[in-house]
Amino acid sequence: MPLMPRLDELEVDEPRGEQDPPGKDFGSRVELALSASNHLLNARNSPRYVAQVLQGVTAVATKLERTTRPFTGVGPSEVKARVGAVDLETPLPDTAAALQELEDVYLRDAIYFHDAKYAAHLNCPVVIPALVGEAVLSAVNSSMDTWDQSAGATMIERRLIDWSAERLDLGDDADGIFTSGGSQSNLQALLIARNHAVAGLRQDPARAGLRLPALLDSLRIFTSEDSHFSIQKSASLLGMGFDAVITVPCTGDHRMDPAALAEAMAAASGAGLTPMAVVATAGTTDFGAVDPLAELAALARAYGAWFHVDAAYGGGLMVSGRYRHLLDGTRLADSVTVDFHKTFFQPVSSSALLVRDRTMLRHITYYADYLNPESAALAEIPNQVDKSIQTTRRFDALKLWLTLRIMGGDAIGALFDEAIDLAARVGTLLAADDDFELAAPPQLSTLVFRYRPRLASGGRLSEDAADALNPAIRAAIFASGEAVVAGTKVGGRHYLKFTLLNAEATLGDISQIINFLRRTGAGLLQSEVSA
Ligand SMILES: Cc1ncc(COP(=O)(O)O)c(C=O)c1O
Repeated sequence: MPLMPRLDELEVDEPRGEQDPPGKDFGSRVELALSASNHLLNARNSPRYVAQVLQGVTAVATKLERTTRPFTGVGPSEVKARVGAVDLETPLPDTAAALQELEDVYLRDAIYFHDAKYAAHLNCPVVIPALVGEAVLSAVNSSMDTWDQSAGATMIERRLIDWSAERLDLGDDADGIFTSGGSQSNLQALLIARNHAVAGLRQDPARAGLRLPALLDSLRIFTSEDSHFSIQKSASLLGMGFDAVITVPCTGDHRMDPAALAEAMAAASGAGLTPMAVVATAGTTDFGAVDPLAELAALARAYGAWFHVDAAYGGGLMVSGRYRHLLDGTRLADSVTVDFHKTFFQPVSSSALLVRDRTMLRHITYYADYLNPESAALAEIPNQVDKSIQTTRRFDALKLWLTLRIMGGDAIGALFDEAIDLAARVGTLLAADDDFELAAPPQLSTLVFRYRPRLASGGRLSEDAADALNPAIRAAIFASGEAVVAGTKVGGRHYLKFTLLNAEATLGDISQIINFLRRTGAGLLQSEVSA
């Protein structure tokens, strides 16, 4: 514990100004702290701030100008050795030196999502207005938990929540909150749904006095076999266990089968279980499928279950010029997840959870005297922490705000529409190509397919051989750095996957990737034959 000085020892107006960097053997911690204060962002240091941030931004811009493929193909052990060799106890002389080192430990070998041959996961190239927002929000560093840490930021976030809810047609009583990502939005939706269901169970006098764990056992969540794994993880985090999630089969188009859901809900209900929530997906991770929202909403309502729509991927459709109708059913949802860091071309992180009935957010409110006392809520002080499962929270909404103010929502929708249309054209190519099998026609901007060439005999390469080959093709392409594609399984078999989110990628770019895949597959087959 520091010793409190005597009152007569205090110098109230200690001078503060430009400090020399400490010499090699700076005398004291005080000297070091004075010199370190040159790095604090404040009025005195603002020229330094501009110069240093510009150096960082220039390093990235130069990198982008010189990068010709999405990846170098470096392996983990090489990067681990390079990062491990950095002496964290000895700072470098200046920002330029640190950025030069960063080239070796990060920038050179990063995965670049803006490159037309990055076609793997749901990562988007980011728009520049959002990067301006990113720079502003980290420098001002508002924290969204309470009004007294955020002020205007709170109002901007609230306005964007209202804007999103309106676009999703959630009605006048809607509300929501920005979150760190789709997984967190889904978790918060299911936390609200769980607490709402538990409040319902407690209406029964026989259960009114039971503690939470005793009530969780009977709750079930229904979601399709193709939904995101954050639903299972949420169930586990909510104390219900992975197996509280009942996976419902899909129809041939990879959308949840309403007949199968009706059957599963009836069976659970008949067994004395409580259908807590139905989670539909608007844009599944693999097939981009949008579940039949209206039919699923009706079933959820019939059983008194919460209806959540995970539109982490499909959320961008709300600004689409051509495909907005795919989201029509969100107007029936109790809650919706939207990931701005996927189909709104925002940098990580930026997501939101929207709820139809703002009073439902009370299920996660907890007042703390040191932060958000109940008296503040009664005085209508807008403390966003009352609606969030995070405390300190980034002002991610600013990125979307500047994107809408500089580009506009229609422009964002146009970028997503381009990616969807490109996927349709790639689908036509793959379906006509005898070396590949397309698992299903594209629905948003993903394509699931595998290399399974026709043989001289007229038949195709065997399923087992294709299973061994496709992951090997993917790994070889990744190691080459020429392109990055994803992999998945369909019906237990290995497939490759493109996720297209780059409006600048052309059919020519994607055909080149297809030809890399073909050449690599043929080469691997050949080396097997000759081995
Ligand atoms: C349908 C769906 N839901 C949720 C998520 C999770 O989102 P996040 O990675 O932002 O947590 C994803 C991620 O790809 C997704 O595809």
